Formats: sequence, structure tokens, C-alpha cells
Amino acid sequence: MKSTGLRLALSAGLLAVVFPGAGSAQDSGDKQTVEAKIRYCKDCHGQQGQGFQGAYPVPRLAGQPFAYLQAKAEVIMEHRRDNPTADTFVAPALASMNPQKRGEVFEHFTTLNPPPAGPGPQELVPAGRRIYEEGVPQDNVPACTSCHGPEAKGSGMVPRLAGQIYPYAVKVLSHWAIVNNERAREGASAVKSPVEHKLTRSQIEAVCAYISNLN
Ligand code: HEC
Ligand code: HEC
Repeated sequence: MKSTGLRLALSAGLLAVVFPGAGSAQDSGDKQTVEAKIRYCKDCHGQQGQGFQGAYPVPRLAGQPFAYLQAKAEVIMEHRRDNPTADTFVAPALASMNPQKRGEVFEHFTTLNPPPAGPGPQELVPAGRRIYEEGVPQDNVPACTSCHGPEAKGSGMVPRLAGQIYPYAVKVLSHWAIVNNERAREGASAVKSPVEHKLTRSQIEAVCAYISNLN
């Protein structure tokens, strides 16, 4: 299954470059069952929703709060997420379900609890833990615990970070504008405007090593 996810994720990126519309016809039938949709999601997001650490990281969905998944799905469906994979594959798959079926798919992922599937370097964990719990006071970076919770499980609109795929988390924090672009910030139904994380590259790597190793 791992290789399926990688192949799909890779071809998603390539297809999107070559054929920006590719994939929209692939999943248009709304007669498909919720189970079939879930299987489709898992081709990329992993059999337990654990995410996939490959050349093109796919985020963990397992254990994400329901409200966060729902809000993020709106952003993706309205093409306000600057990412060709999300636009090409995720948006049509989500849009082909009615809100109730989408809810059932999200419900399924919120209940999964696999171990971390893409942990970062162990040796960075202690420094990362300090940043997570205390922030970086001299640079006005607040403690991550204050929003994401002491165990990084998230709640409501604040995402779970525990067990997130390391390179994905690093990517989000390093290139926040790429995944949550200006359109998303201005949009009416955008998730709360993304918090500015003013961290250096090495601080990002440390804190992501910490969260990606959490169970
Ligand atoms: C072809 C691979 C692929 C498939 C199939 C796919 N996804 Fe994704 N999904 C991704 C990638 C890659 C991202 C990250 C996009 C980014 O970096 O902006 C993503 C992002 C997401 C996000 C945002 C997560 C976050 O933490 O911000 C949600 C929610 C999501 N997908 C749900 C789904 C659901 C539900 C399905 C099935 C209906 C699905 N995806 C099918 C590859 C896929
Ligand atoms: C004031 C509340 C708040 C604080 C403090 C905060 N965050 Fe966040 N964080 C959020 C919210 C809300 C989101 C979702 C934003 C969105 O998706 O548009 C988020 C998203 C993220 C994401 C992306 C998750 C995903 O699956 O796409 C990462 C990674 C992250 N935060 C890491 C951190 C780290 C590390 C810290 C501490 C240095 C931190 N956050 C501090 C509220 C906060």
C-alpha cells in the first residue's frame, strides 16, 4: 500500500503540472459508497490515516478534530489552498460527496489512532519539546501548548500535531504561505487566519521532530 500511496502522490504532482484539470473526472460519480471514498483517501493518506512520508509528504488525518477536518475541506474544495495535489485530487473527491457523507468520512478518520508514521530525528526531540512547551520568549513565539494542547491532540479548529508526518509539518511551517495562501486568508470560510509561526529553520526542525514522534 505504501508504494500505491507514493505512486499516487507522485503522479498527482506530475499530473497537476502537465494537466491542471487532470483527476477531476476520475472521481465524479456520487453513487460511490462512503467506504469506497474512504479507501480512495487511504490510497494516499495511509490505511490508518497515518499519512505518508515520501518524496511528496501526505499529511496524517488520523485523530484530527472533526471541526478542523471539515473547515479544511471547505478551504480545499473552494480551491483556496495553493497545492496542486489538493486541487486536483482531494477537491473533486470531497466535492463529489454530499455534506452528510463527507461527515461520515471525516468521522472515520477522527476515530483512528495509529502510531506515528513519519517521525523526525530523535536527537532534536528534547530541544523541540522545550519550544513546544515554552515557546521562544525572546522572539515572542508563544508556547504551542496554549492552542494545540499539552499532548498536541488539538481540538475544534486547532489541528492535532501529534504524529504528524515530519517533512509535512516542516513544510507547512517553513512555507506557510504556500499551503495557506493569501486567498485563504481573505476567504469568508477560511479557517482562522493561520498563526504566524516566527521560528528559524532549526527551531522548526526541532519542534517538528518533537510533535512527529508523539503518539
Ligand atoms: C492523490 C493523493 C490524495 C488523495 C487520494 C487524497 N488526499 Fe487528502 N491530501 C493529499 C495531500 C498531498 C495533501 C496535502 C496538501 C498540501 O500540502 O496542501 C492532502 C491534504 C488533505 C487535507 C488537509 C489536511 C491538513 O492537515 O491540512 C485533508 C482534510 C484531506 N487531504 C482529506 C482527504 C480526504 C477526506 C480524502 C478522500 C476523500 C483525500 N484527502 C484524498 C493527498 C491526497
Ligand atoms: C494561537 C493559537 C496557536 C498557537 C500558539 C500555535 N498554533 Fe499552530 N495552528 C493554530 C491553528 C488555528 C492552526 C490551523 C490553521 C489553518 O489550518 O489554517 C495551526 C496549524 C499548525 C500547523 C499545521 C497543521 C496541519 O496539519 O496542517 C502546524 C504544523 C502548527 N500549527 C505548529 C505549531 C507550533 C510548532 C506552534 C508553537 C511554536 C504552534 N503551532 C502554535 C493555532 C496555533
